[in-house]
Amino acid sequence: MNYKSLFQLNPEVTFLNFGSFGATPLSLTADYRKWQDMLESEPVQFMTVQGPKYLEESRRALGKYIGCHHDDLVYVMNPSYAINIIARSLKLNPGEEILTTDLEYGAMDKTWNYYSKQNGYVYRRQNIPLPLTSKEAFLHEFWKGYNEKTRVVFISQITSSTALIFPVKEICERAKELGLITIVDGAHVPGHIDLDLSELKADIYTGACHKWMMTPKGCSFLYVKREMQSLFDPLLISWGYQSALPSHSQFLDYHQQQGTRDFSAFLTVPASIAFMEKHQWKEVAKSCQKLAQSNIERFCELLDTVPLAPIGDEFFGQMCSFQIKTNDPLKLKAMLYDQYRIEIPVMVQGDKVFIRYSINAFNDQNDLDLLYRVLKEIIALKML
Ligand SMILES: Cc1ncc(COP(=O)(O)O)c(C=O)c1O
Repeated sequence: MNYKSLFQLNPEVTFLNFGSFGATPLSLTADYRKWQDMLESEPVQFMTVQGPKYLEESRRALGKYIGCHHDDLVYVMNPSYAINIIARSLKLNPGEEILTTDLEYGAMDKTWNYYSKQNGYVYRRQNIPLPLTSKEAFLHEFWKGYNEKTRVVFISQITSSTALIFPVKEICERAKELGLITIVDGAHVPGHIDLDLSELKADIYTGACHKWMMTPKGCSFLYVKREMQSLFDPLLISWGYQSALPSHSQFLDYHQQQGTRDFSAFLTVPASIAFMEKHQWKEVAKSCQKLAQSNIERFCELLDTVPLAPIGDEFFGQMCSFQIKTNDPLKLKAMLYDQYRIEIPVMVQGDKVFIRYSINAFNDQNDLDLLYRVLKEIIALKML
């Protein structure tokens, strides 16, 4: 199968950054345009009558795919939006704490820093020593941040700059025993590793569909456990707030009605799921995972570093990150693209810099070999 032909990626660029914004197959872009054409052929009917029905069908498909009731999820533009809904309304007393790690996505840290300052609670970023050595050791380090003031846990299921899979199921289980609210940032999860919210039992979960599910951009979701839905006000007040015509769900009224907008990207989720089924994406993901993992040791040797966790499916999906010693991460990223036509992120986390490759169906060993040769040259030329 020539997977490259399914996408419209520039053939002159070695694309090793699926993780940031995904990439949408041609057939899903066509589906997106189909919805937009329908909208424009009858704007009023679509926005008020048919569109909401299609939206429900899309939520049904996604709910089935991620293991939750379709009325317990709403589409939002991105995970930042989802977490802002939660952080804005979360009522904690001054001095109470949210426990998280020091490996979270920067925009999420900013969100929690902002609201914790506004509301007087503490956002505790527990240090997670790298490399991870085992699941048990990770859990041990994480829970060192717990104290009698902890009320909430916020954690990524797959981290951004370090690209590690965290054992969130175990975290949610323990948090439940401790009576804590669990909020999981699963931006990288849907379409990447298995996700079944009915098993995971997080109270609140957000994921992006425009990354590994490959939908057009601006398609993500927020799941909130039914008993907690009434705690959260809309981020944007519109007709759904104190609605004159309430639907069966205040959660949907509050968060789905946001004034006039193009929600076509949300409607492409059923086509995304059908695409993944048609092309046996689970198998594809598995072989991408293998390719990503099988190159870890060699890149570690080249970069004089160690794997960020034991190599295997427990900690690594289709992305792998490596600590890299550079004084100018922005320059390195720009050089890789401008001079060598390799699209790959170089990210700062705390006092460290990481380079992260993502592998998807259209990548092969040649892409990683090219990255290897180029990094070797850059190191030899002392241009890091
Ligand atoms: C761990 C994590 N959370 C959240 C996001 C989503 O960010 P945004 O809301 O900016 O799309 C990302 C994006 O890469 C991420 O890696």
